[in-house]
Amino acid sequence: MRHPLVIGNWKLNGSRQVTIEWIKDLRKALTNINKNCRVVIAPPTVYLDQANHEISGSHILLGAQNVDVNLSGAFTGETSAEMLKDIGVKYIIIGHSERRIYHKENDKVIAKKFAVLKEAGLVPVLCIGETKEEREARQTEEVCARQIEAVLEFQGAEAFNSSVIAYEPIWAIGTGKSATPAQAQAVHKFIRHYIAKQNANIAERIIIQYGGSVNDKNAAELFIQPDIDGALVGNASLKMETFAMIVKAAAEAKKIMSS
Ligand code: PGA
Repeated sequence: MRHPLVIGNWKLNGSRQVTIEWIKDLRKALTNINKNCRVVIAPPTVYLDQANHEISGSHILLGAQNVDVNLSGAFTGETSAEMLKDIGVKYIIIGHSERRIYHKENDKVIAKKFAVLKEAGLVPVLCIGETKEEREARQTEEVCARQIEAVLEFQGAEAFNSSVIAYEPIWAIGTGKSATPAQAQAVHKFIRHYIAKQNANIAERIIIQYGGSVNDKNAAELFIQPDIDGALVGNASLKMETFAMIVKAAAEAKKIMSS
């Protein structure tokens, strides 16, 4: 049985004070929610240390939105895997479409980041997904396969042990237009089968999150799908009540399915 995982990607939002307030609100909002869903928040890098302090004693875990491929040296402006680990980060989002698009990160660089995180004992959250044009051209599976293949080639299927994949169709991110549960399930099933061809055990255990306009209204029907193990949430993670409702939906959907 896979534990569902819900990650809040705060992107470029917040302040020191907001970080303190949001975590206080989130802790309150999560009070009566079943703990079988893992909850991660990924604030901006400068607030990670503060966030780590604020989550202490709760079951909220810390995530980061990026990492550099290098561990130390003359790389101005970067943050290493060891630095993130040092301040208590466990999950690191890599390959997000906003970084692929605005920072020109390609599959090769992302595969290197994946390797650096595994080496540090951290959990990569590998984002993959197609553009609107690629979906319309029926290339969704081909695109997802290529993005996974970059890691498989570099590190083999074992690298996916204790790692996370987030399927995020680019056309669904920040648009208010989520993939339908059937659309998302079809791609999640494809991803799991793709990894199963290399290692069935790891494929069975790997968490595959859905991301792209997940909110408190559509979360439950997404999570009820057999291959959707939670969500990577952007906008809706900035409202703590809403984010907690999404966590609750994940905890309940997976409880129902295992009973
Ligand atoms: P969204 O973002 O929930 O605002 O669509 C998701 C993401 O970018 O991870």
